[in-house]
Amino acid sequence: MSKPEIGIGLVGSGFMGRCHANAFRSVAGLFDVPAEPRLRVLADASDEQAAQAALSLGFARGTGDWQDLVADESVDIVAITAPNVLHAPIAHAAIAAGKTVYCEKPLSTTAALALEMTEAAEASGIVTLVGFNFLRNPMIKLARDIISSGEIGEVTGFRGRHAENYMADPDVPHSFRTDPQGGGAVADIGSHIISMARYLVGPIARVQADCRTIHRTRPKAPGASERAPVEVDDMTHALLRFNSGVSGSLEANWAATARTMDLSWEISGTKGAMAFTQERMNELQLWSGTQGRSGYTRIESGPAHPPYGQFCPAPGHHLGFNDLKVIEVAELLAAHSGGPACGPDFREAYEVQRTVEAMQASHAEREWVCV
Ligand SMILES: NC(=O)c1ccc[n+]([C@@H]2O[C@H](COP(=O)([O-])OP(=O)(O)OC[C@H]3O[C@@H](n4cnc5c(N)ncnc54)[C@H](O)[C@@H]3O)[C@@H](O)[C@H]2O)c1
Repeated sequence: MSKPEIGIGLVGSGFMGRCHANAFRSVAGLFDVPAEPRLRVLADASDEQAAQAALSLGFARGTGDWQDLVADESVDIVAITAPNVLHAPIAHAAIAAGKTVYCEKPLSTTAALALEMTEAAEASGIVTLVGFNFLRNPMIKLARDIISSGEIGEVTGFRGRHAENYMADPDVPHSFRTDPQGGGAVADIGSHIISMARYLVGPIARVQADCRTIHRTRPKAPGASERAPVEVDDMTHALLRFNSGVSGSLEANWAATARTMDLSWEISGTKGAMAFTQERMNELQLWSGTQGRSGYTRIESGPAHPPYGQFCPAPGHHLGFNDLKVIEVAELLAAHSGGPACGPDFREAYEVQRTVEAMQASHAEREWVCV
């Protein structure tokens, strides 16, 4: 008997749009999903762009109007990979139409808007999921299980970092990321390491942050010679105090020369410690201190760490970035079809956004700010 179909509408076909399309195309071949995704409508900034992207990414049709996508009755899940400023209006329209909403991070441009989205979604009872895909890594799940098992004792410290180099060149032009509504490095990639900190250690109670703009001007647009001021941070450093009392620190930096994907952390406990970097995403470093030896032991990912085995039966052959999105989509399809709830949902993404804003407020006020 053939499985039911789920209609997918995707808004945006850039970096993340391609990644979402790949995940929806391949998930049914890797996971026992309750229903088969069908790529129905792709919306982009113009009809022409959308038609071209629909053709290359395998969607039945393209449209230059995302409202047309949301109104299409054959679309069950609206995936939002457009610039941040569009997340709220698209999500609200999709919620009103009773669709499942799968939105990229950061959820919105302000915590207030993120809360409105969250409350609207909760009132309508729809399924929501936000693209904090790095949490989908089986090594991260393993780290959380190790913490829960008590193997490293009581957690005492968290040091996290998300550092990349994509804005290190002062001639990288303005984009939605450097728009004040884009939120800067602290919202763009800080949101990822904040979500990771919350996933592993729990809610953050207060922060003291220092935000800094390294490149004060950038070209106004791609190819433009005229430059415009930059009003957002290139790097933010923050001290953290978690609700549990754990203390720590965090860095968000998109101008980190030489770094391409250093979403990394180290967690210390009273009996052991763990360390991870996304640049070596198939490894978790563990020191459990039981044999009296110093130094980390490297745990390599493999079928023993679900859902690795869905992709490959052999250990050490490695998952990649796009696979995390496939795992995310598999969980989304299950939740959409009445299976276990998936997360991070809008409420969790709102909590992440509150933490981002607390860091910005702390920088402005030069003091600790409660989240
Ligand atoms: N989860 C992750 O790891 C991750 C990584 C990168 C980006 N993101 C997030 O994904 C989102 C998109 O980022 P990106 O890097 O893909 O950007 P991008 O610039 O590569 O793509 C944005 C897409 O949105 C389209 N768009 C612009 N205006 C539109 C409109 N009015 N209607 C429909 N489409 C429109 C653009 O044409 C483009 O196709 C952002 O919110 C970003 O924070 C998440």
